[in-house]
Amino acid sequence: MREFEPKIIGFLCNWCSYAGADLAGVSRIQYPPNIRIVRVMCSGRIDPVIPLEVFAKGADGVLILGCHPGDCHYVDGNLHAERKFKMLKKLLALTGLEPERLRLDWVSASEGQRFAGIVTEFTERIRKLGPSPLSEENLDKEILENIQAAKNAVSDFRLRVLVGRERELTEKVNVYGEKISQEEFDSLLDEIVRAEFIRHKIHILTKQKPLSVKELAAIIRMEPALVLRHIVDMRRKGMIALDRVEETTPLYRALEIQ
Ligand code: FES
Repeated sequence: MREFEPKIIGFLCNWCSYAGADLAGVSRIQYPPNIRIVRVMCSGRIDPVIPLEVFAKGADGVLILGCHPGDCHYVDGNLHAERKFKMLKKLLALTGLEPERLRLDWVSASEGQRFAGIVTEFTERIRKLGPSPLSEENLDKEILENIQAAKNAVSDFRLRVLVGRERELTEKVNVYGEKISQEEFDSLLDEIVRAEFIRHKIHILTKQKPLSVKELAAIIRMEPALVLRHIVDMRRKGMIALDRVEETTPLYRALEIQ
């Protein structure tokens, strides 16, 4: 049997990591040929939707490489990348796709050897995990649907605003003289990531056909009372509406999100 060869997509920032990869090439440093490189201007420019889309298309791993902290050519693009990465890891854990398939690291223009080391290590890690459950040969429809829900959640302004304001909320004192600690912010992020993911999952399911709270709870494997709470919130936000009542059971259908 042929050994599994992981398909890895690498997003490398133009100013540091791409030059580091180039140096590895011209210095003839060996590394696995499993990586396909996409050059981006800065790691901070990678929209969180993109790695999710790459996973949806069946990539086994996604590697994001940027300049070391303090070296970003756009001052703090790599720090933005780090915050988005943290949110993406949390979302991936909810989808059923192993979060270890995504890695963020730093490589400077003079670190050809480090670039080769990271690619080798990451390729081995993915080889151990095996083929993606979203690859053509063994497509897991539930995980694919979950990735779509995650994509919709990160496209929504709520998560974007929260991640974009992390630094401001954790480093600056507000008008009441208070500051949120990093732990408080992380648990708030956990809560909001989870809530947004579930709402978008409910939205996808009720777009396919109208469903009751009980049916949704069985599909999502969640307490009906919690599903109902999300539905109340989604109705308030105009994401879902009552379709009809069958006997005494209300069925809900998704609305177009504005
Ligand atoms: Fe390299 Fe921003 S320019 S991470």
